[in-house]
Amino acid sequence: VRLGWVELLLIVASLAAAGFLFAWSGLFNIAASTGHWAVTEVALHWAMRRSVETHSAGIAAPDLSGLALQQRGAGHYQTGCAPCHGAPGAPQNAVAAAMTPAPPDLQQTVPEWEDRELFWIVRHGVKFTGMPAWPAQQRADEVWALAAFLRRLPDLDAGSYRALAFGEAVPAAGGGDAALAGLGGPVEAALTDCSRCHGRDGRGRASGAFPLIGGQQQEYLQEALEAFASGGRHSGFMEPAAARVDPAVRRQLAAHYAAREWAPPAPAEAPDPTLVAAGRALAEEGAPSRRIPACLSCHGAAALERNPGYPRLDGQPEGYLATQLRLWREGERGGGPFAPVMHKVGIALEPEDIAAAAAYFASWTGERP
Ligand code: HEC
Ligand code: HEC
Ligand code: HEC
Repeated sequence: VRLGWVELLLIVASLAAAGFLFAWSGLFNIAASTGHWAVTEVALHWAMRRSVETHSAGIAAPDLSGLALQQRGAGHYQTGCAPCHGAPGAPQNAVAAAMTPAPPDLQQTVPEWEDRELFWIVRHGVKFTGMPAWPAQQRADEVWALAAFLRRLPDLDAGSYRALAFGEAVPAAGGGDAALAGLGGPVEAALTDCSRCHGRDGRGRASGAFPLIGGQQQEYLQEALEAFASGGRHSGFMEPAAARVDPAVRRQLAAHYAAREWAPPAPAEAPDPTLVAAGRALAEEGAPSRRIPACLSCHGAAALERNPGYPRLDGQPEGYLATQLRLWREGERGGGPFAPVMHKVGIALEPEDIAAAAAYFASWTGERP
């Protein structure tokens, strides 16, 4: 039988009408309780797998073996992923298990995926399934931390998972510390959450996975938390953590951390002396021909005294500094009311400046420059 275009159009139109009538009749069963037919399930999963393969094809994965990356990923996994997928030693909860499709046990399924595919799934999520996209699309670096953690996941047991996700943080036992006496339950509970990643003393981890916040300027900490909570500074780790607590508690957390001692852990590796020297020149003199001011004119001890909203940088982990500077350069780093001041500096920095400045400031473990 030979069909002309009129017949073809008629067939397409009748199929569309039949589909519409079926949807209109309400006979299609959207109940999650009945699950998918086996054939639908296979077809959907096949389509999802093909889509992920195709869309992630051009992505080059960085080295995912660093402990700092895995610790950041694990810290977030505990609150952002485990409620649906479960974690070693903490099986999936019954509510999540009743979804269609149910979130898979990632310890079993992760080995089936390439690094770039895990990255793509976590960054973009999966339509029609409940698998959410990464809340800060600007932050590919954060999504790689999740991919790095997922790579480790199949080998973890309850103990090694806890060590990665909770670090040395001590769970709150009633009273809390003296600085918080009288502040009450909500602050203590929030502090337990922050401590998982930052520690109660705000020193983070020895690996440099988290920025130093203990002993940081109070107003800066406060403004940073407000910026995360309002979405003005992008981070899939910190936006939910800051938004979970109300403004009064955020103020008290900023006060708690500002009152700790600024005590950078010694860097794991000795810094590269050439980079440090180049960074020192930039910090002390800037690069006037390229309109870059001396960093210490704002981040040195005297300037910090005058400007409580400006952060100290000495002893921050090198990886953290470099990431923030890259974000400033790309125009993606939000912040408090003084952020525009730093934005002007950041867009003038070249990748070499970033590496040098990060190495220089990270190499300070004693007196402020
Ligand atoms: C609201 C529940 C929910 C949350 C929260 C969630 N997921 Fe999922 N996830 C799902 C569901 C449902 C699927 C199944 C998708 C499918 O079958 O196509 C899934 C699929 C995945 C897959 C693909 C696994 C496979 O073999 O099909 C990965 C990887 C994944 N999630 C990682 C994560 C990570 C990492 C996080 C935290 C950043 C996370 N998920 C948060 C529900 C969730
Ligand atoms: C899942 C781990 C995690 C938790 C939980 C967490 N943080 Fe963070 N925090 C981070 C990471 C990672 C960064 C760096 C964000 C970036 O790269 O932009 C950060 C950044 C910050 C900053 C900005 C530091 C700077 O120098 O600009 C502050 C302030 C902060 N956190 C405070 C808190 C407080 C208070 C809590 C508890 C309410 C908390 N964090 C909970 C991981 C966490
Ligand atoms: C004119 C003042 C000024 C100068 C000069 C300046 N900064 Fe900044 N910088 C700021 C302010 C203000 C912030 C905080 C903005 C915010 O987050 O609200 C900041 C933030 C930063 C941060 C993020 C800190 C953190 O904890 O997240 C880094 C890294 C940084 N500056 C590096 C540099 C470097 C490197 C130079 C020199 C090349 C430099 N800054 C020069 C004002 C300045």
